[in-house]
Amino acid sequence: MSTVQDYIDKNIQTFQNQLFELLRIPSISTDSSRKEDIRKAARFLSGHLEEIGMDDVRLHETPGHPIITAQKIVDDALPTVLIYGHYDVQPPDPEELWDTPPFEPTVKNGRVYARGASDDKGQSFTHIKSVASYLQTNTELPVNVTFILEGEEEIGSPNLVPFIKDNRGLLACDMVLISDTAMFGEDQPSITYGLRGLAYMEVEVQGPNRDLHSGVYGGAVDNPANVLASIIAQLKDDDGVIRVEGFYDDVKPMTPEMREAYQKLPHDDEEYKKDLDLQKLHGEKGYTTLERASARPTLDVNGLWSGYQKEGAKTVLPAKAGAKISMRLVPDQDPKQIARLFTEHVKSIAPDTVTITVDEHHGGHPIVIDLDFYGLKAAAQAFEDIYEKEALFAREGGSIPIVADFKKILGVNSILMGFGLTKDALHSPNESFSLKDFHRGIKTSARFLELLPEYS
Ligand code: BES
Ligand code: MN
Ligand code: MN
Repeated sequence: MSTVQDYIDKNIQTFQNQLFELLRIPSISTDSSRKEDIRKAARFLSGHLEEIGMDDVRLHETPGHPIITAQKIVDDALPTVLIYGHYDVQPPDPEELWDTPPFEPTVKNGRVYARGASDDKGQSFTHIKSVASYLQTNTELPVNVTFILEGEEEIGSPNLVPFIKDNRGLLACDMVLISDTAMFGEDQPSITYGLRGLAYMEVEVQGPNRDLHSGVYGGAVDNPANVLASIIAQLKDDDGVIRVEGFYDDVKPMTPEMREAYQKLPHDDEEYKKDLDLQKLHGEKGYTTLERASARPTLDVNGLWSGYQKEGAKTVLPAKAGAKISMRLVPDQDPKQIARLFTEHVKSIAPDTVTITVDEHHGGHPIVIDLDFYGLKAAAQAFEDIYEKEALFAREGGSIPIVADFKKILGVNSILMGFGLTKDALHSPNESFSLKDFHRGIKTSARFLELLPEYS
């Protein structure tokens, strides 16, 4: 075994403890009261990158949360890998559903439980430790490495795109390496070659100027909650087809080759149902579960509010109703265009008894990475060497909008080398990450860096 791989095995306990330190910092990007904690996480990482011997470690201020960069350029003739990760996390809510405190990393059955354990502190830390293992053993890094770590991924990366545009020189690279996705199953290394985009909308329906007695006014005044329910019900038909005018215009149809590749992936609808305690699955007619969940676009209500929500009954005709609706997009749908079509459509079907406002939250472009890209081949071999199993190539339903921006701005492909699992409970209570995959992740990353020059 190589010096670096050996060093990783011998120091895994220390690496874990360092990760746990990071997991203790509640770096919740959406929560303005956590601004200082976000900075603390950023400082922890920049300090750590300095400690392991990275050059030019910088903490860049932005109008939001800081971006960290660090470099190790060994030879201009070698490929340069830009390693991206995010140190911000989702809120732990609902906190009462956690078995152990979300910011007190707890080890149970070989997994560490904490918010951000998998998404994305644990996963992105694998690369920091892999590069550290080269530097600490005085083993020449086989490639040039630049890190870029952001603290705003979970709120749509508002400051990252301008940062990339302003720092093309610093970020110049041959490819991006990201661990922020899931493996196809336990012990099944997987490379994600597609991610969906996102258009996230908020609809508000305003009726009368105040909440009304539902007996005194009910029947004579239109009810915003009823109106909103009716609008939502009209957004999809019984076959799961989205009825927003023009929604599918730019959707690239699946080719027979694509569908064949999907058929070869291991998947069992029965197990899928059992895992979720569902009697029956649902989705767009004519497509399989995996296709529906990653190759086809969606429209889903993510939040819904109106009227009386507490215990018991209150007879009220609410003045307002609101919904948060997200659409997952596939190539070549454009988030801005979809947001426009959605807004026009909702306004066109709304009755004139109420006032409708449609607002757009953050969005992102979908991406599919060309399977011929040489970086993917090196990644597959690295996975195979460490996991002793051939890696699968699959598209995923989640979104990492910056992947499309890296392609657009820097002209480079991303390698999505996920070490997580869907059972990691990302964004849910009791998020966790397998410590075995943390260990294998570091080793796979180190092996990848070693293999890459042979493939380029
Ligand atoms: N790491 C996830 C994305 C992900 C998870 C991709 C699992 C594939 C498999 C990322 O942190 C995330 O949560 N992204 C958001 C989008 C963002 C714009 C808020 C998402 O997908 O909802
Ligand atoms: Mn993530
Ligand atoms: Mn996330």
